[in-house]
Amino acid sequence: MSIYITGDCHGDYRRFNMEIFPEQRGMTKDDYVIICGDFGYWSEDKEQLWWLRWLDQKPFTTLWVDGNHENYDLLKTCPVKEWHGGKVQEIMPSVIHLMRGQVYEIGGCRIFTFGGAQSHDIQGGILELDDPEFKSRKKQLDKGYLPYRINHVSWWKEELPSEEECREGLRNIEKCNATVDYVVTHCAPTKIQDIVGNGLFVPDRLTDYLQEVEERLQYRKWFFGHYHDNRNVTDRHILLYEQMIRIW
Ligand SMILES: [Fe+2]
Repeated sequence: MSIYITGDCHGDYRRFNMEIFPEQRGMTKDDYVIICGDFGYWSEDKEQLWWLRWLDQKPFTTLWVDGNHENYDLLKTCPVKEWHGGKVQEIMPSVIHLMRGQVYEIGGCRIFTFGGAQSHDIQGGILELDDPEFKSRKKQLDKGYLPYRINHVSWWKEELPSEEECREGLRNIEKCNATVDYVVTHCAPTKIQDIVGNGLFVPDRLTDYLQEVEERLQYRKWFFGHYHDNRNVTDRHILLYEQMIRIW
């Protein structure tokens, strides 16, 4: 069994082409590729369905934690089931969403997952579709350069976790004696985010929560995405974007 890991895809899965990722030759559905958030679960349109089927037909199983670019209204409609010791949502039989605060045991490899992140690209604000001023505000923003999002269309408050998701994570950490092989998240703990952004990123309740996880959990490596770079931030905190590495 092998496990590979990579960063944000935003719906572009070309890095899993046979030419770019020939290691998949000889893989089976008991081999895994993990995506550290911003998988790009966005809509039910034909293009998305085409790509989901394309991934499902790959010889490996695709696993992903959620990022701040997923459609959480759509995700809520997918049933939750138990898989390798934690909760998942099967988007396709072999395209599987790893949920927040879960510990999975996959072929002897124990992984703690916690998706989500606060969006940074919303300086223009979040528009509400039912706002009577919606059209004029959007028109104004479209003329400028400040990025904005629309609630339930391109932004969801669930990009940040609920208190229950955070509590569940801590409970599951206790249950596994606070020891895993790997941690997979979308954003980083506050102190690591400070290094990545040279202090420019503002901490939020998720990065602070992950800082608490950092202090409670024993692990070998922590993989995360979100900041769109490939960088070993410390000897244990690995930021991934388009790079793919084998971890098991
Ligand atoms: Fe991203």
